[in-house]
Amino acid sequence: MQNESAIIELLDVSKDFGASAILRHVNLTANEGEFISIRGKSGVGKTSLFKILGLLDKPSEGTMKLFGERVNMLGDSEKARLRLRQIGLVFQFFNLLPALTVLENIELPMALAGVKKPQRRERAFELLRYFDLAGLAGRFPDNLSGGERQRVAVIRALVNYPAVLLADEPTSSLDDENSALLLDLLGRVNREQKVTVVVTSTDLYEKLPTSKDYLLRDGQLRQIR
Ligand SMILES: Nc1ncnc2c1ncn2[C@@H]1O[C@H](COP(=O)(O)OP(=O)(O)O)[C@@H](O)[C@H]1O
Ligand SMILES: [Mg+2]
Repeated sequence: MQNESAIIELLDVSKDFGASAILRHVNLTANEGEFISIRGKSGVGKTSLFKILGLLDKPSEGTMKLFGERVNMLGDSEKARLRLRQIGLVFQFFNLLPALTVLENIELPMALAGVKKPQRRERAFELLRYFDLAGLAGRFPDNLSGGERQRVAVIRALVNYPAVLLADEPTSSLDDENSALLLDLLGRVNREQKVTVVVTSTDLYEKLPTSKDYLLRDGQLRQIR
């Protein structure tokens, strides 16, 4: 039976790089409204899984579905279109383009999606104001703290109204205070902007504002909470 509220599904997904099997028969469903964490120590395959979920890489075997549709066979341009409009991505490092201001960084995905300048500006400021970050609009990424940079990266990932936000170790380079601010922001994105959120973390015990938590170990994913 079709799972009506599934945004992303991995069905029996395996990934190997040459001889090394990184993911083995992984199953995962991210439903509408959920906030999911994928925990695992460094090197277990979190980023490999993140790239598959974000359509940046393909499974070696198994099926990835977005909104109930298989995406394995899609071409690069169709995947790029889905990434632009349906999947917000936040990486561990190097999220923002250094030559652009915060405002220009946030407008960029909208420009790529063909949104006109006045609407881009309006949407960018709407989000910046909503999350109390409008004061950063004219700054360049080099003049932001690491925490501010990650918060701006989350805003940028939201501009095209994605169904899901994927963040790969978004707090691992941040101190405790900035980690808490970022997690609070992601929690609000999930609850108030109604976006499904999936984050990875190397901290197996950290309390996160999640509805489901998974552990990735020895290539296998199992639900721990
Ligand atoms: N493109 C690649 N080619 C070969 N090996 C890779 C590639 N990407 C990742 N790996 C290997 O896969 C394993 C898992 O990496 P990764 O997914 O980055 O783990 P994590 O994000 O949990 O630290 C590591 O041993 C890494 O060296
Ligand atoms: Mg990683």
